[in-house]
Amino acid sequence: MGEITRPMPQFTSIFSWSLIRHIYTVRTTREEMEREEQRWASTAGFLAACVGSAVGLGNIWMFPYRAGKYGGGAFLAIYIFLLFIVGVTGLTMEWTLGRSRGGGPIKSFAVMPFGKYLGVLPTVTMFLILSFYSVVFAWILRFFVGSISGEIFRESFLNDIAFQPQSLIFCIIAISITTLIVMAGVKRGIERANLVMMPLLFVLLIILAIKSVTLPGAYRGVEFYLMPDLSEMNATTWLMALSQVFFSLSLAGGTMVVYGSYQSKNRDLTLSSVATSLSDTAVAIIAGLVVIPAVFAFGMEPGEGPELIFVTLPKVFASMRFGWIFAILFFFTLILATLSTAISLLEVCVNALCEHLKWRRKKATFLSALLTMASGSFLSVNENFFEFIVDLSSIYLVILGALMASIALMWFYGSKRARDELNRGGRIKFGRWWEVMGKYVYPAVLIVILLAAALFGIG
Ligand code: PFF
Repeated sequence: MGEITRPMPQFTSIFSWSLIRHIYTVRTTREEMEREEQRWASTAGFLAACVGSAVGLGNIWMFPYRAGKYGGGAFLAIYIFLLFIVGVTGLTMEWTLGRSRGGGPIKSFAVMPFGKYLGVLPTVTMFLILSFYSVVFAWILRFFVGSISGEIFRESFLNDIAFQPQSLIFCIIAISITTLIVMAGVKRGIERANLVMMPLLFVLLIILAIKSVTLPGAYRGVEFYLMPDLSEMNATTWLMALSQVFFSLSLAGGTMVVYGSYQSKNRDLTLSSVATSLSDTAVAIIAGLVVIPAVFAFGMEPGEGPELIFVTLPKVFASMRFGWIFAILFFFTLILATLSTAISLLEVCVNALCEHLKWRRKKATFLSALLTMASGSFLSVNENFFEFIVDLSSIYLVILGALMASIALMWFYGSKRARDELNRGGRIKFGRWWEVMGKYVYPAVLIVILLAAALFGIG
């Protein structure tokens, strides 16, 4: 018996060892496959996704109405000036942080004391932005349907749908479309979708801008928009333009950190930051050219505020020959811009759940989508709360997140180390100026806007 039983443990141990090895191999292969899927297939894909995140409501909804309200050309001139100073530095810092630490804000901010906890803030900010985004996304979908049926030409259309229970269903549709793309993965979902959506968005916007600037009487709008009037340059114009740059480029320590972490170490980040900033500005400028000259051509005012594209523009389309075609194209373009940003916001939530709770992607996406549906639906019918969340997340929390990301990278990770990391694979190399900008100028600018916003209030 003894002789029979002795070899058994050996057999069992060999058996279990190979079983463990088998399970381990299957597991690592699956993890490797998942990690591989979590990488951009090409720099073009990375760029499309980053431009997709940057180009959104900030460009097509906020930029034209803020430009219309805060001095037209003066706002535009300051915006372009700040974009290059702040935008390129901010984008490269957030990407480098994510890439060097190999993860989203929670993992990346851990280089500094309490960083792990501070990193939760940008994650929550992305969730809040996504929640209000889903409300506006729902209106846009409804306007798109309404432009086909002709309902948008009814003066009261915005009031009929906004903050009414009927917008809930569109909110759920908006989140479901976003979820399907994110669930498909970084490479197969996010990258592929953006590679199609971004070129299409540019082409559509250019068609719309050509139509707008060639309308009779549009030149007055072009003049208002493109000629800076120095007397309009006051502190508010500067503050609004600055906070617009951060929001517009998605600089908040969230999406750009996560998207940077999916970029391989030997690929370019420097030239990509210039390309992303340029594309984002181009879209904002062209969106202004679509909206402002057309509004002037029909003798209306561009300083309407947030209602500019939902109330003033439909009136413009109604007065225009074949206006309904342009209305359909315009709202479709807005869907592309909003969807590509919503994807990036949802991805940050999914990334956090996968990275820290080790959840599978599908489960994480599903839960994030459910939570967004709950908060989006709540905001869809609570106007005051909606306005509060828009201001809180798009001004204060965005700036706070961008500030923390720059401090984590330049002060705790080390600015020299960060620059070496950034320049690795870079088509152009950034010099010491980048360290000075990122370590001192950028955080100082952010602190000034934060204080000014808190003391005088902006929005
Ligand atoms: N950049 C987006 C827009 O212009 O609409 C908004 C945004 C996305 C802001 C992601 C911040 C962010 F982290």
